[in-house]
Amino acid sequence: MRSATSILAIAMGAACLRAAHAADVFAHFMVQNSYSYEQSDWENDITTAAGIGIDGFAYDYEVGQLVTAFSVAEQLGFKLFFSFDMSYSWSSDDMVALVQNYSTSSASYKWNGDILVSTYSGETYGESFWADFKSTLAGEGITISLAPAFTSYRDPDDADSLMSNFTSINGFFNWWSWPADVDANLTTATDLAYQAIVKSDRTGPYIMAVSPWQFKNLNTTDNDWVEYSDTLWHYLQAIQDVQPDIVEIVTWNDYAESHYIGDINPKVNLGTYAPNYVPKFTHGAWRNVAQFFISWYKNGTEPTDDQVVFWYRVWPKDTVCCCSLEPRNYEFPEDAIFAIALLSEPATIQMNIGSSASSWDAPAGHSIGSVPFPTEDAQIPRCGRGLCEH
Ligand SMILES: *[C@@H]1O[C@H](CO)[C@@H](O)[C@H](O)[C@H]1NC(C)=O
Ligand SMILES: *[C@@H]1O[C@H](CO)[C@@H](O)[C@H](O)[C@H]1NC(C)=O
Ligand SMILES: *[C@@H]1O[C@H](CO)[C@@H](O)[C@H](O)[C@H]1NC(C)=O
Ligand SMILES: *[C@@H]1O[C@H](CO)[C@@H](O)[C@H](O)[C@H]1NC(C)=O
Ligand SMILES: *[C@@H]1O[C@H](CO)[C@@H](O)[C@H](O)[C@H]1NC(C)=O
Repeated sequence: MRSATSILAIAMGAACLRAAHAADVFAHFMVQNSYSYEQSDWENDITTAAGIGIDGFAYDYEVGQLVTAFSVAEQLGFKLFFSFDMSYSWSSDDMVALVQNYSTSSASYKWNGDILVSTYSGETYGESFWADFKSTLAGEGITISLAPAFTSYRDPDDADSLMSNFTSINGFFNWWSWPADVDANLTTATDLAYQAIVKSDRTGPYIMAVSPWQFKNLNTTDNDWVEYSDTLWHYLQAIQDVQPDIVEIVTWNDYAESHYIGDINPKVNLGTYAPNYVPKFTHGAWRNVAQFFISWYKNGTEPTDDQVVFWYRVWPKDTVCCCSLEPRNYEFPEDAIFAIALLSEPATIQMNIGSSASSWDAPAGHSIGSVPFPTEDAQIPRCGRGLCEH
């Protein structure tokens, strides 16, 4: 991805409007990608995230990195909360020990005075596991607010049974920030249903995920997919429709699923297949867009900016690769270059590539447009290592 950055910056005075909801922004941080981190890597990531208005990381354990992560976060005024990946096998005792150990850190994020704890999945552990986890911590004098991402709860009609099945949860995190294997835009149906039930039944936060993209190609049928994400980073529903207590950007650094907005740290071991499609695909310009929307979400007022950020896939969707499978839903994305314009005054945005051209009348503020891939390029991938290389 490449971006055209600010041409012009106009400073404007405006009244500070404070939105009525809590409006904190976190990014989901994959610890599997931090094994090789040193203090300076934490400093870089945290400084970069804080620089665009992110308040903290939702952090999945990695015991070996916790001490450094918390101490850097404390020094930089950044927040962390645990987001236990329950698809691994966890014992309640280990989770209790971790939460307890960092409960007094100034970097531990609190919701109404309670330590916030989240998850990725975990519903199959059952209500008794979660009730026991909370009461054990309470016995140590630590009250938590539990807002898990029980990922099988996606259907709006299941919101009531989430509450009746799990009486110990305080809030909820809707992980699903991409369409569900359909060639259609994401809707707010899941968010609005689960937000309503949390707000009427519980006192914990409603956490809404937002994501720029979803593509994984690990050469097995259960790990090869793309979700329709062409315009997903222009998804304004968090600001305009849902106004969740917390927005969680999915993700900071999940390289294999292509939704990272952090820079690719060259120290990270990307595994066997992700190196075929991750390196060189920097997503940093999506942070420029995030900064604009974060400011709006927190402030209640659309900010003023002057930049156009564009991005594209490098191969048409019908490209035939010599040795790999077609990812599930490969026919969904549009063969086009997309751009978000963030403008201080109306303008015509012209996009040209080869024989292909388009333009749109962009208002002041945000808008999105695209230009189709040109047809004349012979875009034939080289297939050196079994999968297509860039
Ligand atoms: C608990 O925190 C201390 C530092 O405050 C650290 O030395 C220790 O490794 C931590 N234990 C766990 C289980 O994270
Ligand atoms: C939740 O409740 C529904 C019915 O209310 C039931 O069918 C389902 O199996 C329960 N799920 C869990 C994980 O307990
Ligand atoms: C998704 O929404 C955009 C407008 O933001 C629209 O241009 C596009 O056609 C929609 N995609 C689908 C698959 O309906
Ligand atoms: C809110 O937005 C206005 C206009 O962009 C800006 O001047 C102000 O500093 C913002 N306030 C906060 C608290 O970010
Ligand atoms: C990818 O999967 C296919 C089908 O299972 C297999 O034939 C091929 O060897 C795999 N590619 C690599 C690079 O392992």
